[in-house]
Amino acid sequence: MKPPQILIVEDDRKMRLALREIMTKEGYSVDTVETGEAALERAGGTSYDLVITDLKLPGIDGMDVLKAIRRLRPETSVVMITAYATVDTAVEAMRGGAEDYISKPFNLDEIRLIVRKVLEKRALLDDNRLLRSQLKKKYSYDNVVGNSEAMIEVYKTIDKVKDSKATVLILGETGTGKELVARAIHYNSIRAEQPFLPVNCAALTESLLESELFGYVKGAFTGAVKDKQGVFETADGGTVFLDEIGDISLRLQQVLLRVLENGEIQPVGSTKRKKVDVRVVAATNRNLEELMKSSEFRADLYYRLNVISLRLPSLIERKEDIAALASHFLLKYSTENNKAIMGISKEALRALERYDWPGNVRELENVIERATLLETADEITLESLPEKMRASPDKPPVVPDEDLKTLEEVGRAYIIRVLEKTGGNKARASEILGINRTSLWRMMQRLNIVA
Ligand SMILES: Nc1ncnc2c1ncn2[C@@H]1O[C@H](COP(=O)(O)OP(=O)(O)OP(=O)(O)O)[C@@H](O)[C@H]1O
Ligand SMILES: [Mg+2]
Repeated sequence: MKPPQILIVEDDRKMRLALREIMTKEGYSVDTVETGEAALERAGGTSYDLVITDLKLPGIDGMDVLKAIRRLRPETSVVMITAYATVDTAVEAMRGGAEDYISKPFNLDEIRLIVRKVLEKRALLDDNRLLRSQLKKKYSYDNVVGNSEAMIEVYKTIDKVKDSKATVLILGETGTGKELVARAIHYNSIRAEQPFLPVNCAALTESLLESELFGYVKGAFTGAVKDKQGVFETADGGTVFLDEIGDISLRLQQVLLRVLENGEIQPVGSTKRKKVDVRVVAATNRNLEELMKSSEFRADLYYRLNVISLRLPSLIERKEDIAALASHFLLKYSTENNKAIMGISKEALRALERYDWPGNVRELENVIERATLLETADEITLESLPEKMRASPDKPPVVPDEDLKTLEEVGRAYIIRVLEKTGGNKARASEILGINRTSLWRMMQRLNIVA
């Protein structure tokens, strides 16, 4: 069994070395750092059993470390070291989720005992935790965040279909995670060791797309100086992800149908067919049934692709996941940009939860990335969110006495608020405002409103 892993955060050198020595003698595996910033960096990469942190540190202090660990690493216990004069802080630390505290000056027996006690308590809890994490693992996929009912359904479907060769059609609005889920299917399947090759069908012309998918032989067209493999061949044994499938031409739809039916491809310009073993996952944010009605999409291909379909919920259907998603992106971008931002303020979170998210998770990700860069406080505040999210829809656009506004300013604020409420839908907004769409558009231009 691995020894418990402990991280000691202490700026006083003598103290740090002493603690390291005692803990190492106890048989624990010990890391030490001098600052709160370094502690968070370490804790980001390692799941420690216990973090022992001094309260007083230069920069990020022990309370901040505690808060951040509670959020980033709920599985890690924290013990706080406080000076004896500050009983209040010890109490505050316990309230903040510390497992215990040690007050300075302490004797060695005391600290040994406290650490043993905390680790034993964890061992007891671990059985439980193991069970829970197994369950979680069963229905959660790397990087796919969200515990809402709608997402649990998605995980269950992925789980059921991942190892089959059946084609999966992923539907959902833009930015709902279609590509992410396609990858999750592949990388959790028995094909995971083989390639996952995405192709954006909307980005290529018909003939380029055909060559890209099925390859070509030398002389097939001007410039085809030697044979080239298509992705269906390169991905043999793996998965091809056909993104924006609603955008392929009718002729290619027919070619694709044949490939799906008999598992054979025919490179452009070749007379020979080749067998390939490829699993196809396709995605689109277009309405394929509508496209079928207008004869832009072949019904036979639709039914072929639609053997299993997975509809990803838009973010507004799973607002309860916003907090978890926002934290996930905050961790990602604060680490990437070396910023010590520990959380999201209540007001900012409320604003995020109130917004309609027409661009879904991608939009949320962009908002958090931007906020992480702009933020100067140690948490994301309302001020670093885009203006359209900051106004409170619960109140009319107030005109504070000390800061009287012109009619135009108030009008501008009101238009922004209505646009927010309608998720940027100008038709609905103009209805509410009682003006026609052209007038709304003109006003937006004049008042410099970007929707
Ligand atoms: N459930 C989720 N958990 C974590 N990140 C997510 C989730 N859903 C989406 N994302 C992130 O949001 C961004 C957009 O996701 P993705 O590219 O998969 O969307 P999409 O549905 O393919 O969008 P489009 O239709 O515009 O191509 C990506 O950076 C992705 O990692
Ligand atoms: Mg996509």
